[in-house]
Amino acid sequence: MARSIASVGVVGLGTMGAGIVEVFARNGIDVLAVEVGDAALERGRETLRGSVDRAVRKGKLSEDERAALLERVTFAVGLDALHAVDLVIEAVPEKLELKQRIFGELDRVCKRDAILATNTSSLSVTEISVATSRPNQVVGMHFFNPAPVMKLVEIVRTVVTDEEVVTGIEALCKRLGKVDVTIGDRAGFIANALLFGYLNQAVSLLEAKYASREDLDAAMKLGCGLPMGPLALMDLIGIDTAYEILDTMYRRGGRDRRHAPVPLIKQMVTAGLLGRKSGRGFYTYEKPGSPVVVPDEATPVGAAASGLDTGAVEKVGVVGSGTMATGIIEVFARAGFEVVSVTRGAEQSGRTCEALKTSLNKAVVRGRLDEAGRDAALGRVTWSATVEHLADVDLVVEAVVEELSVKKALFASLDEICKPGVVLATTTSSLPVIELAVATERPADVVGLHFFNPAPVMGLVEVVRTIRTSDATVATATALCRAVRKHPVVCADRSGFVVNALLFPYLNDAVKMVEASYSTADDIDHAMKLGCGYPMGPFELLDVIGLDVALAIQRELYLELREPGFAPAPLLEHLVTAGYLGRKVGRGFRDYSKR
Ligand SMILES: NC(=O)c1ccc[n+]([C@@H]2O[C@H](COP(=O)([O-])OP(=O)(O)OC[C@H]3O[C@@H](n4cnc5c(N)ncnc54)[C@H](O)[C@@H]3O)[C@@H](O)[C@H]2O)c1
Repeated sequence: MARSIASVGVVGLGTMGAGIVEVFARNGIDVLAVEVGDAALERGRETLRGSVDRAVRKGKLSEDERAALLERVTFAVGLDALHAVDLVIEAVPEKLELKQRIFGELDRVCKRDAILATNTSSLSVTEISVATSRPNQVVGMHFFNPAPVMKLVEIVRTVVTDEEVVTGIEALCKRLGKVDVTIGDRAGFIANALLFGYLNQAVSLLEAKYASREDLDAAMKLGCGLPMGPLALMDLIGIDTAYEILDTMYRRGGRDRRHAPVPLIKQMVTAGLLGRKSGRGFYTYEKPGSPVVVPDEATPVGAAASGLDTGAVEKVGVVGSGTMATGIIEVFARAGFEVVSVTRGAEQSGRTCEALKTSLNKAVVRGRLDEAGRDAALGRVTWSATVEHLADVDLVVEAVVEELSVKKALFASLDEICKPGVVLATTTSSLPVIELAVATERPADVVGLHFFNPAPVMGLVEVVRTIRTSDATVATATALCRAVRKHPVVCADRSGFVVNALLFPYLNDAVKMVEASYSTADDIDHAMKLGCGYPMGPFELLDVIGLDVALAIQRELYLELREPGFAPAPLLEHLVTAGYLGRKVGRGFRDYSKR
């Protein structure tokens, strides 16, 4: 039978503790909220009050409910107050010695059958439990930030946790309206093990000045539909907490270099830039604890406004007849540009034209375009099968097959045909743009314009500048993106640019987690959606992208960066070999033939 839990204590009222107190009080459970001293207790009380006041302002809580909620919370300094509660959740800083000391004291203070839970993100629950005389009653209860909002709780059982303790905590999570996944005691559990390598990598891209903070965040939001970018998320988590989690994961998780905290993180902690809670982290906030970002010295000045100068670009050439080429023709034609489409033959031009008509008609059906707009867009496109027709365009976007020799030959011929000063862009997603630039006599005019599929829908374009691209070319390229209502992010010419470089290692890590039998595809998908607010879990996404595509991109990243942690998961290779390529063939990680 599941344990009944009527009263709860929370130790530590920081970012997580205050949120966890709110979760219990909102669900009608009495909470004893404990801090180390009066000042910290007052801060915790303020955090709770601020959060419930916001909920009232947003109409998510009535005045009466707020009063009842606050009534359920008792505040106290020191652990002695916890002698009568049924469950304690510890949420103090991520330091093993501190947590072990607190668990030793809790063991002394709390009643014999009380359950002791830790909210640790990365430390060993087993090591914490052995600081008590009741390791069988110790469990991990890992809430996600912000605790009142995120639905997931990871329940961590050690090899000695009693089954009835686990079932009691599972039942409690249901009462709280949370979805739980129960897992073993491994560094980072599910979500953080998949998240923190990605966050650390994003910081390393910033440190290397590979892209700006705004561009890194915008790329992941717009390119992957994530609720926030990695640097904004680091600020929400707390830079000091993130440092401790990475450090522990590095030491516990097989010394994977990708978890070794990037030096910039340590410097920020030393400088007191702890994220939202201190009012400044990667971004600057209105005041400590506020989610409102205010401009600072790193904020781009008037970028959107000054970036509308598209130079003299009126006529655009698009080379290719595939999905991307068709989408890009549509994007430019709908934005009012004259478009010259160049394919390899009349048949390909006919097919591309049909595909464009179908897509435009869909936009009409969906009410996003009227019939006159459709006809005008179609009327702006000229169809050709000879590159010579690109002699008078102001921009060329190359979207032919992803083969270096083919693209290089095309760029060499563009060099012969196009006017001087024309921007020559490639949509490659994996080849080095510099290879194409040096196939011409004008490398300063060559840039990457990496659109996302479907191009008419996705709001992001990665503008890839090589070491030879001129500032003027980058400025025109970014302005053109804005002119076609896309959000440009500028990045350097490295494998995967921003989005793929950050996305695919995470997907590959998820495959490795299943391969190691730590968790299942279903639980991992749940964890990332409910714990991190991702629109799709990694396995859902892999099946949509195609396992062969994912494997090819991961191989490129591995070959370019030689990072051992980027080696493609053997399970991914085996599934591709077996022909399980995802939705497109009816089977990938999941079987779609029976649905
Ligand atoms: N921040 C996140 O996004 C997040 C998410 C999930 C889990 N966690 C985990 O939650 C735990 C707390 O992290 P946080 O981000 O809330 O940290 P935090 O620094 O915001 O808060 C920690 C709080 O603990 C208090 N404290 C310190 N020593 C204490 C003691 N002896 N007795 C009582 N209180 C004490 C501090 O005064 C502070 O208020 C960590 O284990 C962390 O890994 C954090």
